[in-house]
Formats: sequence, C-alpha cells, structure tokens
Amino acid sequence: MASGGPTRTCVALVTGGGSGIGRATAVKFAELGYHCAVADIDEASARETVGMLKTPGLAVQVDVSNAAGVQAMVDTTVKQFGRIDCALNNAGIEGAREKIVDYPVDMFDRVMNVNLKGMWLCVKYEVAQMLKQERVVSNPETWADKPELCRFQGQRGNIVNTSSTAGLGAMPEFTPYCSSKWAIIGLTKTVAQEYAKEGIRVNAVCPATTDTPMRDRFEAHWPDWQAKTDASYPVGRVAAPEEVAEAVVWLCSDACPFATGEYLKIAGGR
Ligand code: NAI
Repeated sequence: MASGGPTRTCVALVTGGGSGIGRATAVKFAELGYHCAVADIDEASARETVGMLKTPGLAVQVDVSNAAGVQAMVDTTVKQFGRIDCALNNAGIEGAREKIVDYPVDMFDRVMNVNLKGMWLCVKYEVAQMLKQERVVSNPETWADKPELCRFQGQRGNIVNTSSTAGLGAMPEFTPYCSSKWAIIGLTKTVAQEYAKEGIRVNAVCPATTDTPMRDRFEAHWPDWQAKTDASYPVGRVAAPEEVAEAVVWLCSDACPFATGEYLKIAGGR
C-alpha cells in the first residue's frame, strides 16, 4: 500500500492547529481522508483551519497547559468523531530570548507549562482514550490476500509529538525552549515503551527552522537573520510547514509500523 491514506475513515487530532505546522498537518490529514479536530488556544485560528479542510473538521479551543481543558479536548473530539486514530501534539511557544542569567523565571514557567506539561497532558489523555478503542484486527481492503502483512494489525492509535532540532542540540539564549524540546524526546521514548504492547505508537518530529509565524518571531530578534537562516541550510532554504506535515502523516501511517519511540529529524541536510 502507498503510505499515507487510511482505508477507512480515520480521525486525527492536531494541537496548535491554528497556525504553521499544525495547520499544514491538519490540511494534509484531511487530504488523506481523515476527519480532523483542530485544537488551539486561539479558537478563531482553529476555525480558520477547519475552513480549509476537505473533510469534516472540528475546531476546539484549548490551553494545552490546563489538564481539564485537555481532557475536554479529547472528549469533544471523541463525541464528534468516535475515536482518535492519530494525534499530533504540536502546540508550542518560543518564550523570551535571553541568556540564562537574565532569563525571566516566570517565562521559564510559561514555556515549560505549554511545551512540556502541555505535551505530557495531551499524551496522557490521548493514550487513555486510545486504550479504550478496539485494536485494528484487519485491513481487508489492502491485505486480504496477504494477512501476514496486515500492518495495522493490533494497533490502537498513533501519536506524534513536535520536538525540534533544538531538542537534539543547543539553542543559545533560549534555554527553556531548548530544554522543553529535549524533554519531549524523553517523554516520547518512555511512553512508547510503556504502551508498545497495547498497540499505541509514539514518535516525534524534529524540524529545523520552518517557515511559520514562529520563525518570524524568532528572527525578529536579529536584523537580517532571515536570509542568513536560509543560507545556513545545505539545501539553501528553511522547511515549508507542508514538508513537516508530510513527515507527521508518514509516521502515523501504516508505512512504518515498527517505528515507535523514534524521532525524525527534518533539517535540510544540516
Ligand atoms: P506557530 O506559532 O505558527 O503555531 C503554534 C500554534 O500553537 C499557534 O496557533 C498557537 O496559538 C498555538 N498555541 C500556543 N500556545 C498554546 C496553548 N497553550 N494551547 C494551545 N495552543 C497553543 O508555530 P509553528 O512554527 O507552527 O510551531 C509548531 C510547533 O513546531 C511548536 O511546538 C514549535 O516549537 C515547533 N517547531 C517550530 C519550528 C519553526 O522553526 N517554526 C522548528 C522546530 C519546531
């Protein structure tokens, strides 16, 4: 089977879906036939994304750092669409730009609350939901003549967490952001092992600079930085959000059933 498209109507949930990478991924999921819940702290932007989808969508307002809110996001999605096959946990903020000595403590808390606690809460409640879902026991349209190759066999759901190349290296003047993105790798690997036998895969993507509003905010700190960033990549440009989206849907698809606890770096050769 070609990677990507589900053979029945599947359901995706995307946080931070009102902008950038999240929006591009929701659009991609919908192109593949998934029904999609688009969650964001900015409800208007989530609605705007839903308006771009080819399939039925649902806008959900959520602050991912709030446990009750995240539980409600999962419940609302399941009430509307019946289950969650794939989740992209992607909401994130960059915080301030300061070396650690001058970094405001309250901003450390904000970044960690959204990027790490928010990610942890999303994974926690999504896994709890996926455990209630039946396992996929066959994929007859695709593998009727090759049951041994039924690659969705036994699966309950797939989760992808957005880390960053900042989760694999240093990012001077952004210690909380960088620390949160490293922590997401540990979270991903650990939960993947906890629920591998339950048929839940958990992976991460580590994009390098991607052309989104967050990139604009990062680079607003440095005059002339945009051109320098593009030139710093061997391919000569930063990623498009759609290119990260392709990696997310691939990780969620039946093309890589043995991948769990992995991270996929998307960094234009750098
Ligand atoms: P973006 O700023 O365009 O989109 C982030 C979305 O998250 C926004 O719609 C925002 O409203 C939402 N959000 C923020 N706080 C939230 C909260 N508490 N609850 C719910 N939603 C919230 O940024 P972009 O670039 O699309 O980033 C998405 C993810 O990708 C982030 O986790 C970011 O750290 C990561 N990333 C971005 C890179 C880049 O260069 N743009 C590179 C590597 C990783």
